[in-house]
Amino acid sequence: MHKRIYLSSPTMHDLEMIYIQEAFDTNWVAPLGKNVDEFEKEMASFIGIGHAAALISGTSALHLAIKLCGVKPGDLVFCSDLTFSATVNPVSYEGGLQVFIDSERETWNMDPLALQKAFEMHPNPKAVIVANLYGTPAKLDEIKAICDKHNVPLIEDAAESLGATYKGKQTGMFGKYSALSLVVLKNKTRKEYTGIMEKSSKAA
Ligand SMILES: Cc1ncc(COP(=O)(O)O)c(C=O)c1O
Repeated sequence: MHKRIYLSSPTMHDLEMIYIQEAFDTNWVAPLGKNVDEFEKEMASFIGIGHAAALISGTSALHLAIKLCGVKPGDLVFCSDLTFSATVNPVSYEGGLQVFIDSERETWNMDPLALQKAFEMHPNPKAVIVANLYGTPAKLDEIKAICDKHNVPLIEDAAESLGATYKGKQTGMFGKYSALSLVVLKNKTRKEYTGIMEKSSKAA
């Protein structure tokens, strides 16, 4: 018989058991309590942004970002073309249409030149979603500058890049909204926290 090797099975030891017991002892299993509040604060401070909200998945964070950008059926959203499908799926959930922007060779992420060209062809997208694939930051300054110039919100999909820095700043702080993921396959894993980050305003 073959021995089964799990990709990443959860481990529940001292601290985990203490917190689980505490949640039951205090009858605070739902709604959210101080641990999640603290976690959101710590995460926002680590990334260097104003607010973080814990959600169930990176996909839901991206979906919320798409909704906050006001994407409606038929709206165009410029998206990284080399990424995991969760980056772009939420556009379809709202009936939007993805316009895929080609990648550049240095980081394999969204090419700022191709993005600029896309704006020339379609001047009014509702949002731009850039992924930092495999933990490698995209050319975020250039991409953000183009979005700012056209007054279009940038959504940063940092699901794979928590802890990676770009020019000394944490990824996840460049988008108007950013999504992180701590699902078990990710580079920094603490099982299933995922959040949406908002840089300055009140949605989070
Ligand atoms: C680039 C990218 N974006 C978004 C997601 C979605 O994250 P989650 O699995 O937490 O929904 C993933 C996860 O696989 C991803 O790799």
